[in-house]
Amino acid sequence: MSTLPKKRLLKALNKEQLDRPPFWLMRQAGRYLPEYRATRANAGSFLDLCYNPALAEEVTLQPLRRYDFDAAILFADILLIPDALGQPLAYKEGEGPVLDPIRSAKELTSLSMDKLHDRLNPVYETVNRLSSSLPSHVTLIGFAGAPWTVASYMIEGKGSKDYAEIKKWAYSDPEGFQKLMDILVQSTIEYLLKQVEAGAETVQIFDTWAGVLPDDMFRKWVIAPTRQIVDGLRAVHPDLPIIGFPKGIAGNLLEFVKGTGVTAVSLDTSTPLEWAVENIQPHVVVQGNLDPIMVVAGGQAMVDRVHEILETLSNGPHIFNLGHGIIPQTPPENVALLAETIHAWKK
Ligand code: CP3
Repeated sequence: MSTLPKKRLLKALNKEQLDRPPFWLMRQAGRYLPEYRATRANAGSFLDLCYNPALAEEVTLQPLRRYDFDAAILFADILLIPDALGQPLAYKEGEGPVLDPIRSAKELTSLSMDKLHDRLNPVYETVNRLSSSLPSHVTLIGFAGAPWTVASYMIEGKGSKDYAEIKKWAYSDPEGFQKLMDILVQSTIEYLLKQVEAGAETVQIFDTWAGVLPDDMFRKWVIAPTRQIVDGLRAVHPDLPIIGFPKGIAGNLLEFVKGTGVTAVSLDTSTPLEWAVENIQPHVVVQGNLDPIMVVAGGQAMVDRVHEILETLSNGPHIFNLGHGIIPQTPPENVALLAETIHAWKK
């Protein structure tokens, strides 16, 4: 017999009517918090922090001690999968992630799924710890990157402005590129299943660079692999709520929702609210979409926009969030005002 979910985020994912939407923020643990910077400095490298269950648990909990979020997101990174597949990864101060790029199907022999779970085991341990340390009203969110976005870092070797290397490979050698996508789909399914087994109650799939493809390629390299992941997870957990975040895909959003089977979709900042009410909310739960820079600005402008988002999306299922991750320059007191504004709002 199944029991009804009691947590606000799970209720929203179940499309139940609520007096106010649940809220959490993408990248809610991170450099805008002095306590994060202190733990990070003690951990050694960013990867040491991700692979240390006690410290990863600690930084996941830090924002919840300050703000009454309805969810905690596992502290890890989308690039732990390439790392665990054997592609050396480093995070350089001020530069972001740097990898030894893979540029052709021949080079795929350097990747192996054999040690995937050995390497990722500390992440499952972090989830396990959080599932007992979180307050009972807080939902635990697991996550992974979508294959397209993870592949972009594996092939470009770092963040990119034009995605020329990944596109060149995907357009000129689709069969070879598919082999890399297959490895990522399979690894991601296994990785997320282990997170769920360890206690994650929902998972979010981050596809930050979904918006750089023309629509035929978008179907092939964004929708299809995401659908495979959704199906792979649901084959084991038919009721698992899954949140997609295909950033920057504008008019392709409805096709994404229908094509992937996600439970909820996270809207980026540029998605028009009224359009989402008419076209997306009838099909799935929507999450979003305050501009992260509004939280840097703070004050009445932020409060007004928060009210506008809350009112506009309040007649259908909604999870309040940002349109992209919170940025390091964000004053923590502005996040406090944001939390207060949402908690004080009533439908
Ligand atoms: O609080 C949380 O949301 C959980 C942890 C989390 C991190 N990264 C921690 C992190 C999550 C969910 C991510 C997702 C992620 N990682 C994405 C998708 C979401 C997005 O923001 O677009 C992407 C593209 C990455 C890859 C990545 N990791 C980049 C490009 C960078 C460098 C840029 C940056 O923001 O620093 C990282 C590093 C990273 N991941 C940090 C954190 C807290 C900063 C590292 C540090 O402390 O030095």
